[in-house]
Amino acid sequence: MTPNAPELTQRWPAPREIPVDLRRGTHRDSILRILDVLVSTQVKWAVLIHRDKPPKNRTDEYKTTLTVSERTTVASDNDVVSIELRAPDGSDLERWHPGAHLDLYLPSGRIRQYSLCGDPADRRCYRIAVRRIPDGGGGSNEVHDELPVGAAVGVRGPRNAFGFVEPGRTKRAKRVHFVAGGIGITPILPMIREAERMGLDWSLVYVGRERRTLPFLAELSPFGDRVTIRTDDEYGLPTATDLLPPNVRSGDAIYCCGPVPMMDLITAGARNQPGVEVHAERFSATPVVDGRPFRIQLARTGQVIDVAADQTALDAVLRVNPKAPYSCRQGFCGTCMVHVIDGDVDHRDNSLSPAERAEGKMLLCVSRSNSPCLTVKT
Ligand code: FES
Repeated sequence: MTPNAPELTQRWPAPREIPVDLRRGTHRDSILRILDVLVSTQVKWAVLIHRDKPPKNRTDEYKTTLTVSERTTVASDNDVVSIELRAPDGSDLERWHPGAHLDLYLPSGRIRQYSLCGDPADRRCYRIAVRRIPDGGGGSNEVHDELPVGAAVGVRGPRNAFGFVEPGRTKRAKRVHFVAGGIGITPILPMIREAERMGLDWSLVYVGRERRTLPFLAELSPFGDRVTIRTDDEYGLPTATDLLPPNVRSGDAIYCCGPVPMMDLITAGARNQPGVEVHAERFSATPVVDGRPFRIQLARTGQVIDVAADQTALDAVLRVNPKAPYSCRQGFCGTCMVHVIDGDVDHRDNSLSPAERAEGKMLLCVSRSNSPCLTVKT
């Protein structure tokens, strides 16, 4: 996931952070934090300031603590840092497969998802890469500025919802076409290694604003003409034809990761190609579709927050309280969950169980209201 921002942000809408995975998380007690902050600006947000220790009061929320063992700049514009994480005692880490991500519990308490971009065969090390997004949600700046070599960081995962074909588990595609937009190369890199290992016929189209903004070019250079680099400054904005090889045919698979406009082009282009599998992981928040305005009322204070038709409930809350917790913005991590005690929730996530919905739980980043107002427990 990551969240990472594409370097195409000047042309295409920029995400606040880049969620890189569509897997539900387990961060279920955030309701108290978000509502505490909402009801009073006097309430202090529990920001952990220890640079070298993960947040002590959240140890129940992350799985393990790893140590930053190496930092490397991996794009010529110096805005993408690759970070390696190891167990403090050097022991083996959990296995993972291409497309997996880690949840990082950053020193401030933010939780962000980042795709693993190293070698799955290396059990001693996880590698992620993060593009700095100066005007994002703060997670990328924190990774760049607050995680020096030797820092400890809480981690959950790896988990995978962007899985690459595995022999014997899914229908094996005859050929694989990868399309990556900027930092979207991170989940694709281990897939390429796997495709090589499996002896698949594969190709990559790697797009971005300029070459200097594209991370990991050196790692891709050994693959020669399997890789097509296409930058906007040289060729202009790409079309669907530019992104999809002309020889795509039934039985092929496309794996793509990048900004939404790129993904839309690929999806539209693949629609005319029957029998082609498309596997995608996008960067940005889930867009509002068929939204109607409603209000959120905080039970304890009575404060009312207006949610516009084209706005997520989370964005409305963030406008009132910029420190309200969130992470994926796509309805899978649970960080933004609140408890509704009155009103009819229009659930738009795929994460909450029927029982959780019956209890009044709601994910602010994607769900809306069927009634004019939702009252939220505080
Ligand atoms: S479910 Fe992740 S931010 Fe809402």
